[in-house]
Amino acid sequence: MKNRIAQTETAHSSTPDDIAITPRRPEFDFSGVGKYWLRDPFTSHFMNALSIVVPHSERTVIDIVRKYADQISDPKLMRDMDALIRQEGRHAFMHLRCNDLLKKCGYPAIRLFERFQKFFVSILRRISPTVWELAIPASFEHFTSAISRDFIVNHKFWAGDRSNAVIDFTNWHALEELEHQAVCFDVFAALEKRTWLMTLSLLFVWMPATLVSVYGIQLYFLLKDGILLKGKNWGPYLAFIFKSLPMLTRGAFKYVHKSYRPWSRKDIQIYREQKINIRHILA
Ligand SMILES: [Fe+2]
Ligand SMILES: [Fe+2]
Repeated sequence: MKNRIAQTETAHSSTPDDIAITPRRPEFDFSGVGKYWLRDPFTSHFMNALSIVVPHSERTVIDIVRKYADQISDPKLMRDMDALIRQEGRHAFMHLRCNDLLKKCGYPAIRLFERFQKFFVSILRRISPTVWELAIPASFEHFTSAISRDFIVNHKFWAGDRSNAVIDFTNWHALEELEHQAVCFDVFAALEKRTWLMTLSLLFVWMPATLVSVYGIQLYFLLKDGILLKGKNWGPYLAFIFKSLPMLTRGAFKYVHKSYRPWSRKDIQIYREQKINIRHILA
């Protein structure tokens, strides 16, 4: 078969046995939630920018995981992949609903950003050899798990004292991103033993692309709202960039170590606590 590559000796699921990747379908009513749904315009528009790129990213994850599914033989990893696909499908659907509301707030360039992202990802996929294509979902998951971890651990920084349906939705999404954080990397590691290629993929393609797209769209939103037309707002804006930058730039070199697997002890603790904290959403 075209694109078939040899499985490596680590072709198995590394998701801990007591973590069940569970597709859930909670409902959220976003009506009445404004565009500044987090602590301030900077945190809100960062997450709004992320939301713009999430649906196509998650659909790309689904598409590539499906494409290589018949090359995976570990039954647990196959179940993980199926659950990931179902979780991501639901996330993409809910983000599209958020993005529709955002479009109604008057940001005409959103459609342009969406079109450009589709074009960029499709060109990259067309010219990528198998290993680079396999690195795409693992790289996307690298970022979504890092952002989710940060959103959960530094909740006050993001949300302040606020609570609303979009925060609930983000808490649920963050939990599921942690839950399936290992799956795309496991698929990559099952089919490609040179895990250091993930480091190259992140450093030379996906980190620059993520930084430019997310901070770029956030900057557009902040300019369009006139927030950055006031000099006094530049201090808090730069402070936000400084605080959030490590979340998007750390961790690329961990893939150089052959024994690296995504779940850490700390992750398990964060995941369990979050699951308890948002049990009312999951019920
Ligand atoms: Fe997701
Ligand atoms: Fe994900």
